[in-house]
Formats: sequence, structure tokens, C-alpha cells
Amino acid sequence: MTATTLSPALVSHLPTGMLVDGHWGPATGGRTFEVVDPATEEVLFDVADATPEDGRRALAAAAQAAPAWRATAPRERSELLRAVYERLVARADDVAALITAECGKTRAEARAEVLYGADFLRWYAEQAVRFDGLARTAPAGGNRQLVHRRPVGPALLITPWNFPIAMATRKIGPALAAGCPVVIKPAHLTPMTTMLVAEVIRSELEDRGLPAGVVNVVPTARAADVTSPLLADPRLRKVSFTGSTAVGRTLLEQAAGQVLKASMELGGNAPFVVMADADLDAAVEGAMVAKLRNAGQSCVAANRFVVHESLARAFAHRLADRFAALRLGHGAEDGVDLGPLIEPKAVDKVDELVADAADHGAQVLTGGERPGRKGYFYRPTVLSGVDRDARVVTEEIFGPVAPVVAFGDDDEAIELANGTEYGLAAYAYTTSLDRAVRLSEELEAGMIGINRGMVSDASAPFGGLKQSGLGREGGEAGLEEYLETVYVAL
Ligand code: SIN
Repeated sequence: MTATTLSPALVSHLPTGMLVDGHWGPATGGRTFEVVDPATEEVLFDVADATPEDGRRALAAAAQAAPAWRATAPRERSELLRAVYERLVARADDVAALITAECGKTRAEARAEVLYGADFLRWYAEQAVRFDGLARTAPAGGNRQLVHRRPVGPALLITPWNFPIAMATRKIGPALAAGCPVVIKPAHLTPMTTMLVAEVIRSELEDRGLPAGVVNVVPTARAADVTSPLLADPRLRKVSFTGSTAVGRTLLEQAAGQVLKASMELGGNAPFVVMADADLDAAVEGAMVAKLRNAGQSCVAANRFVVHESLARAFAHRLADRFAALRLGHGAEDGVDLGPLIEPKAVDKVDELVADAADHGAQVLTGGERPGRKGYFYRPTVLSGVDRDARVVTEEIFGPVAPVVAFGDDDEAIELANGTEYGLAAYAYTTSLDRAVRLSEELEAGMIGINRGMVSDASAPFGGLKQSGLGREGGEAGLEEYLETVYVAL
């Protein structure tokens, strides 16, 4: 599988430059970086490597477009988003092929991501005409209170590599709906899909005579060099980031300088709790989804399987049988269940965590090794009898490894599940309504799946507690992140 298996019509229309004020062009100085297929290690594309000066030009374009964009009718913004949604869905196979090529996930998963990602544009097309304010008489009388919602202003959107369409549209949708122009810094490992989305928006803006500077894209392999000056620039009013907690902290420190509105979707360490009364078939099925979406490379991936001692052995062995039957390979090949990890250092990290667990007494039921083929693959792995302090339990794995830890009673399950500085997602399986209610009230996570291995939905608030982030994306809450409130006493 090489770049040539992407349709020539698609490849010939793909932008590889940066987008500033409606024009795709090279980076200043002409530098580029390579985008690699993680399943073959082949270079697919050379992409413009934007400089700090290019970033500033992009922000200038966004700032210039801001007054005209915020003055557009909400219906106009809504129709633009709806048109982009429809064009992406109509090209779902092409977009999915591109996601598979640069990110590695299987075609079926990539297609599901296109539909999930496009749905953020549909949802925010519907919300663009629905944000409201307030008018009332002050309680003491004598004056009226008017409360308006305004777009916050130009926004910097920093997207991750693991869901190259969905993480971009989850930010672009609400930003454009609210009336904010954007500068997008896509992940350098998977910029192409985001750039394709930006091109569809660019052409819709042009066809509709809307300001070209509403969407700008600065791909770069030197992220901090480009984003740091932007965060210090008073023209920027909002930053939205999805990525690691460590980078999120740095961005928040920088954002403090201009007191920027910030949303941060950061790391996770999701517990997957299987209570004593759980339906084991359903739990194993849910675990397959919660663990293996994008080969485990998701912030909401189940990281630790916390299973009642009466079920732990059966659960681990059944999961291991399912993992062992999976076919690894290039995501574009028929019959492949699991693609590669994104880069060599991701494989090294996963291998290190498995070795550390084994050194601390864990049993490797299946996997635990690289398959010895080209590409950044790692065999899906189940570990049983894992020490609670093993790194594979305390750190975010971001790979296809399922450590199983046993617990004795409900209090211990909740204590184990909450024993992390993260609080993004949690999953729990139980057939008891009382337990379901307790878990949904006591698990420390921004998103909780009860008898479900997947929580993501464009209409729901996605985000974390504790060190998993600030703010929400998706749903009504996602739009709030791009609006500010102004009160007028009249
Ligand atoms: C993520 O991994 O950050 C996003 C996953 C999702 O939206 O489901």
C-alpha cells in the first residue's frame, strides 16, 4: 500500500501548503516536513512547514475577517456549515482513505470517523441559529437588563493526530457557528485530512462571497515556535487544544499572558470497571470498543480494566482470545482489524510499559511483542494479575494493551477507578440499577459510559475533570466556549 493507492483524483486536489486569507501557498523559506504512512513507513506527502511569521500572517488574516464574520447572519453561518457537512459525507470514502493513509486506522474505522467528524458540522449548523440572550427588568426595578452573546474573536485551534477529521471539526464547527474566525495548527503527523476539510470550507466561503480569512491553516513540525508568538498576540482571543496534559499546562501558562479563553481536552486514564453482577459478554464486547478504537490511541480509551475478583480471570481470558484472533495489517486491506501505532516512539513506549508490568509479576495472556513486520505495529496485548502501581496502570498507554486488575468490593472498585490525577472518561458494567446510579455519581470523570464502551457524540459535552482538561467540546456547551457574555443595564 502506497500513496498511489489513494485515488489520483484525490491526491491531485489535496492541498499541501498553508492556507492564509483564502490562498494555499508554501511556507516562508519553502521548508517542508514529511507525512509518513505508519503501516508502511513510506513518505506520503511533503507539507509546508510554517514559520512563526507565517503564523502571524494567518492570525492577521483571521483578525481582519473577524468584524465581517461576526456580522454575518447566523443563518448564513449555519448554511455554510451544513454545506461543508454534506460535501464531506458525500466524499466519505475518499476522506476515510486519507485518514487511513496518514493515521493508520482501518477503513471501516476511518469511515466511522468521517461521519462522526462531519456530524459536528451538522450539529453546529443547527445550533448556529439557536444561541440566545436575556432581557428582563432588574429585581429592584428602575432599569432593564439585556444580556447578549458575542463571538469571543479569533481562535487558535491546535488539533491532535489521532482523529484528524473529528478533532478538527469539533473545534471548527462551534467556532464558525459562534462567529469566530480561526487559525488551525493541525498535528504534523496527520495534517492532510484537516487540510482537506479546510479546503472544502475555503471553497464554500469563496462561492458564497464570505470573508476568505475566516479559516486559515498553518501546518508545522515546529509547533511551539509557531503557537507561542500567537498566544502572546493580543489579536488572538481564544485557544482550543486537544493533546497531552503536559503540553496543555504549557499552553495554559502562555494563554495567561493575554488572559485568553482556553479549552483544553487533555490526557486520560479511563478505568473500565466490571462489577460482580456484570453481563460478562456485554463487558467483553464493550471492552473491545473502549480499548481498541484507533488501536488504543484515544484519550478516552479504556486504560485499566478494574474487574471484580470473581470475574477477573474469565474476563481476562475471554478478552485475550478476542485479541489473539485480530488481524493486524494496513488499514486499507480487506479483513484487517487493527492498524499500526502512529510512530516508532509510540511502539517503544507501549513495549516499555508491558515489560515493566511483566517485571512486576503480570502475566502476558496474549501479545506483548512487535509482530516483526514493517510499520509501527504492536500486537494487541492482555495482561492479568497486574500490580496496581505498575506504570501500565498509572500512565496513559495510548496503545492496544489491556491490563486487568482485580478488586474485592464496590468501595475498592471506586477507589481504584478514581485513583488517578486524570478524569476524562470512565466505563462501568453492572446489571444493578443501584450500582449504576452510584457509579455515575461517584466516578471522577467528565464522561461516564454505563454498559457502553463508547461515549462520543457530537451532541454531547466532551471533556474532563481534574488534570484531563478545562471546558467542553460538542453539544450546547461546545458553543459556549466561543462566546462571551455582555450585560447592558438599560
Ligand atoms: C480523543 O481521543 O481525544 C477523542 C476521541 C473521541 O472523540 O471519541
